[in-house]
Amino acid sequence: MGNEMQTMVVSFRTLVANPLSYQTMLPQKPLFEPKFVCELFSQMSKTYGLVNLVSSFGFSHLWRKQCVKLAQIESGMTVYDLMTGMGECWHLINRRLTNEGNLVALDFCPEMCRQAEAKQAGMPGLNSQVLQEDFLNNSLPSASADRIVSSFGLKTFSPAQKEIAAQQIQRILKPGGLFSLIEISVPQHPLLKIFYMFYLNHVIPLIGKLFLGDPNNYKLLGTYTQHFQNAQTMGQHLEATGLIVQYQSHFFGCATSLVGKKPER
Ligand SMILES: C[S@@+](CC[C@H](N)C(=O)[O-])C[C@H]1O[C@@H](n2cnc3c(N)ncnc32)[C@H](O)[C@@H]1O
Repeated sequence: MGNEMQTMVVSFRTLVANPLSYQTMLPQKPLFEPKFVCELFSQMSKTYGLVNLVSSFGFSHLWRKQCVKLAQIESGMTVYDLMTGMGECWHLINRRLTNEGNLVALDFCPEMCRQAEAKQAGMPGLNSQVLQEDFLNNSLPSASADRIVSSFGLKTFSPAQKEIAAQQIQRILKPGGLFSLIEISVPQHPLLKIFYMFYLNHVIPLIGKLFLGDPNNYKLLGTYTQHFQNAQTMGQHLEATGLIVQYQSHFFGCATSLVGKKPER
């Protein structure tokens, strides 16, 4: 048996014996330092799109679709796509903007931004802008967004960073504006949790390797998900800023989302 297969079998047995054991297996790395996260996505940028699509069996696309739908985007609006990656949500957003309005996409990873800019060339009718900035310290004007969407961009925030992110969302949203955020999460059902976490921690890194990515980077996505658990804490931070928030679970909790509104004064 190869080393990777042996590690997988041992981890799976440990997880079945003690479903909570994965929480004590978390590595002590500067996981939430912006520089570390940025470097991680730089390294994954060449393989992320394909690995994400294949390894999620298309669920990632479905969840992005649901996230954008829940934002109730209308033609002519100003939409911010936060932690945009390579602009995976843009076609879905522009289906609703219909080339009218503005799309501002923000990401701090230069490689991701470069790929997003390449996507801009294929969507000449859309008025779009790519901002290479840290969302936790951004230059977006206050009360400037009709809609905010973000898919799979929350899990790399530490608890303290989630609080700052929530305050930023509150700040940049116009009164009456809506937000829709979605993230991969740890399902509640014990059996599903075992299989899902095993899949994230061991199968996705192998798929990453198959597509010439670094399996250790893909393994970290599972680690971030274990830390993140679900969108509830982020929801509490958003509520604390005065936003109205609804929490939703997708496919038995394998993803969770937050949809809400900034009250009209
Ligand atoms: C998992 S990818 C998601 C990309 C895309 N939204 C999608 O649906 O696949 C997370 C992205 O968030 C970006 N990111 C993480 N923390 C960030 C921060 N503080 N500011 C800006 N971008 C950030 C990363 O560079 C990465 O491109």
